[in-house]
Parts: sequence; structure tokens; C-alpha cells
Amino acid sequence: IDNYAVFGQPISHSKSPRIHKLFAEQTGQLMDYTPQEVPAETFAATTSRFFADGGKGLNCTVPLKELAWQYADQLTERARQAKAVNTLFRQADDSILGDNTDGIGLLNDLTINHGITLKDAEILILGAGGATRGIVPPLLEQQPSRLVIVNRNLSKAHAIAEDFTELGAVQACDYANLKDRQFDLIINATSASLSGDLPPLPADLLKAGGSCYDLAYANQATAFVTWGLANKAAHSLDGLGMLVEQAAEAFFIWRGVRPQTSPVISLLNAERA
Ligand code: ATR
Repeated sequence: IDNYAVFGQPISHSKSPRIHKLFAEQTGQLMDYTPQEVPAETFAATTSRFFADGGKGLNCTVPLKELAWQYADQLTERARQAKAVNTLFRQADDSILGDNTDGIGLLNDLTINHGITLKDAEILILGAGGATRGIVPPLLEQQPSRLVIVNRNLSKAHAIAEDFTELGAVQACDYANLKDRQFDLIINATSASLSGDLPPLPADLLKAGGSCYDLAYANQATAFVTWGLANKAAHSLDGLGMLVEQAAEAFFIWRGVRPQTSPVISLLNAERA
């Protein structure tokens, strides 16, 4: 049986083992997928042992995505740009390919699952950490009319905007500069939401008919999803759909089979209701 795993810290609440089990059942693939708590300090040694023992593929989550990026022998273009890897794959020659399926996972959830149009949209991203770096290139590919990154630490937002300026219209600003501006889509990529915190967002920031998306997910509505609902968002979504979609892309890389995501998203949504 082919072995896969997800490494991270913490890992006990990860939904990835369940998602991949559902994908395997649905597509008739014989595979094992286990969660393992791995701290940054032992990541390289644990990963080398996993692949030496015959492991086929690995997902890496917080706080390991940059280490996985360094670990990979080869990188896909999107992983290179993201400077982060969430999927490692042992290829036929035993070299390890690093990919990042988070960005395409977000795009698929926004556009296919929820029908949100990104072309010519005005998009705001809250936060300028690793998660933002990963989603800016795929979002710019959709040709929004404007992509703004807002962060408390303005220089971090500027650094990301400058790195991707050749890909499209991307700007940086601080929270004070959001006054009197409006967006079609606001994406929360800060780490604040799960602790119940919200960045300072002015009223009227969301255009009528606009949508909100929190990259984080939780069994209850996150602080940002609640903000979106209070501000009459057409959709106010958390990152569960993105999680399932990024998993489907990883599954495809590993197995060459594309699972259906909507039954899995429906099931996970029903379980947390
Ligand atoms: P990740 O890799 O998940 O993106 P990160 O690199 O630690 O995590 O980045 C977290 C982001 O959330 C940062 O942009 C941080 O803002 P600063 O760079 O100004 O510190 C942002 N963040 C965290 N808590 C926040 C809060 N309460 N309000 C606004 N932004 C917050």
C-alpha cells in the first residue's frame, strides 16, 4: 500500500487525513495517509526518513512550508514564486518535487464553487505573511483591475507587491489608507482571525454585492466571516473549501486521478453544522 502523510505542528485537528481518505474511497485508490506531529527542528531528518522508508508523498503545513520549499530537489513554478511548499512528491527517479497547491485551491473555491468573478475585480488582501505571498501570483493571473495588500507593517506589504509587480496591478497600503476605498472581494490572510481578532476595517469597505473570504477555517464562523455577514457580503466564506481544493490538487499530483471535491466539502460542512 502506498504511504502518504501530513506533517505539521500542531496536527491533531487537521482535516487532511479525512479528506484524503474520502478521496481514496471515491476514486478507488489504495493508499494510506497519516498525520504526524513534526516540529521545524526535526523536519528535514523526519522527511528524509519518510521517503527512504518508501513514502510516496507528503503534505506540509504550519510551520513547515518554507522548510519544505528548501527541502525539495525541484520546484514547480508556482512553488518557486510562493517560496513555500505544501506538497512533496517522490518522483520515479527518487528526486523530491515540491509544489504549492494553496493558490489554485483558493481560485477553484472562489470561481468554480462559488461563482465569484476575479477578472476586473478590485481585490483587497489583509496581511502580508507567507499566506499572502502564495495567493498573489494566482490572483494576478486572473487579471483583477486592482490587487491591494494591506498590512500593519507596511514594508512587508511593499516587499510582496514589488516581487510580483510584473505579474499585474498590485499595490501596498496601510490600514489608515483604506478609508473611502471599496473592494469587490476582501481576503483575510492575517493570522488574527482564529484568535477572534480583526484588523481595523472601515465601514463601507465592501462594495454592494461584494464577497469576503477567510483563508482560515473553524467549526464556528471566524471573526472575519462574521464581519462579512454583518457587512452584507454576497458570500462570506471561510477556508474549508480551499482546504479541500488544495488537497484535491495534491491528490492529483500523487495519484494522477482527480477526485470530486463538492461531495467532500458538503460532508465536512454538514459535520460542523
Ligand atoms: P502566514 O504565514 O500564515 O501568512 P505570518 O507570516 O505570521 O503568517 O503572517 C501573519 C500576518 O498576519 C502578518 O501580515 C501580520 O501583520 P504584521 O506583518 O503587521 O505583523 C498579520 N496579523 C496578525 N495579527 C494581526 C492583527 N491582530 N491585525 C492585523 N494584522 C495581523
